Amino acid sequence: MAATSRIPYTSQAEVLDPVTMRVEGDIPSWLNGQLVRIGPGLFEFGEFEAALPMDGMGLLHAFNIQDGGVTFKSRFVSSDILKKNSEAKRFVCAEFGTPVSPDPSKGRFAKLKSMIKGDAELSDNVNHNICYWKEADVLLAIGLPMFVLDPVTLEHRMKVTLPESLGVDIVSEHVHIDKDGCLYLLGSHVRGRPSYHVVRVPPKGDVMSSFAAAELVFTVPGQYKVTPTSHHTFFMTENFFVIIECPLEINVLKILTKGTIQEALKWDPSVTCKFHVFNRRTGRPIPQKIESDSFLLMHSSNAYEYGDHLVLDMFNLRDLEFKDWFVPRKTMAQPNFDPTAAGSSSKESPPLRFVIPTNEDKITKADKGANLVKLESEQAEAVKQSSSLLRLRSRPLCAGDGLQFPCINTAVTGKPYSFLYAGGYGESKCLEFAIGKFDVKTKEMTSWEAEKKQFLSEPVFVANPAGSSEDDGVLLVSLLDYATEKDRLMF
Ligand SMILES: [Fe+2]
Repeated sequence: MAATSRIPYTSQAEVLDPVTMRVEGDIPSWLNGQLVRIGPGLFEFGEFEAALPMDGMGLLHAFNIQDGGVTFKSRFVSSDILKKNSEAKRFVCAEFGTPVSPDPSKGRFAKLKSMIKGDAELSDNVNHNICYWKEADVLLAIGLPMFVLDPVTLEHRMKVTLPESLGVDIVSEHVHIDKDGCLYLLGSHVRGRPSYHVVRVPPKGDVMSSFAAAELVFTVPGQYKVTPTSHHTFFMTENFFVIIECPLEINVLKILTKGTIQEALKWDPSVTCKFHVFNRRTGRPIPQKIESDSFLLMHSSNAYEYGDHLVLDMFNLRDLEFKDWFVPRKTMAQPNFDPTAAGSSSKESPPLRFVIPTNEDKITKADKGANLVKLESEQAEAVKQSSSLLRLRSRPLCAGDGLQFPCINTAVTGKPYSFLYAGGYGESKCLEFAIGKFDVKTKEMTSWEAEKKQFLSEPVFVANPAGSSEDDGVLLVSLLDYATEKDRLMF
């Protein structure tokens, strides 16, 4: 494995034996446990390099906090593709933006064929998200197949997938776990007419049996007949699921000819976003079409029901040039990389709140042109365009732009809440390199600013178990410091 560097998006070595970290200040006595994160950690095989940061091989990081002390360890996800690439010294499958490397042992035509098709069917690399599934006492590294990991050692236990009969080809990176322990995934069917499915995986004690018992609970036919759209997350509340179809198409045939998903994407901001709302209680979708101006949904910060309304808070990309979405890894993995100069116009994307009326009787009886959002002081609108169409207008959720990676106190997930935490990673006017705390009711913001050449992770809020207020807890943020070569986990 490569030598470890502090510069972001450079290859890292595994740290299998826990390293004791130096502690400055006091760690709260109630804070004990393990913080596990995942990200891309290996970008080169032989002479070939990953084109995008997101194409690196998945590396797990764990900070174990016990009785005021902290240890750190890391371990690569035991994917088949990591083994195959390492043995072949090249990328034998395409990643999102990295094509198959040519095979030097093959002739010219065979080389071309291997570049287009890949030697294996699909990469099983996972590097974006993990979740702890308490009912099965496992960590899941999210993908299809799903990696099942030991929550303490991070060691590989098994890979599981969904039953073939469900027709799910890929799953979105973010999932939900309900109060009853059921795991919910958003699956896409991309072979043939595209469709999108909320999949329920019931807790059965062991993960293999759970995934074998998975079932579809909500299905949405895709708006395009041939090309599926890209999905990163979806919303779940006590009584509703919401799938948002954004106009980012994936031309599956182009993946074969162009070699990567990145080159097969088509962003069309002139097409509206479609909100598909499923009532879990009645077992039916809301019959009206629900649309808004275009955006690309990235992350949900919270979603809850309030009276006859569904409140959806989210972090999106919009109003941006498609070419700016993917900054090459080589550009980013530089000690002097300046994200503000990289051209991303996601600066124009504040976190947004949408509100959807859910009382079908009131929707039916309302006049054309009426705003059906009846929450006091709420500026988000849902205007009845016709008997079959509602048009949503969002409002900025808080004073922030270009922010990423929201988190909240999980005790208020699915409920009205006050505090939202998020990071600025160089693309935000309000928080350049900083972590912010936003009051979504008063719009007040407080922040912690990083120094130059400090690279922040996404924040994770851990509530004080004896706390009585929503913001009583600590925010965990790891920090790569490539000026001083001292990495930190901050509280
Ligand atoms: Fe994400």
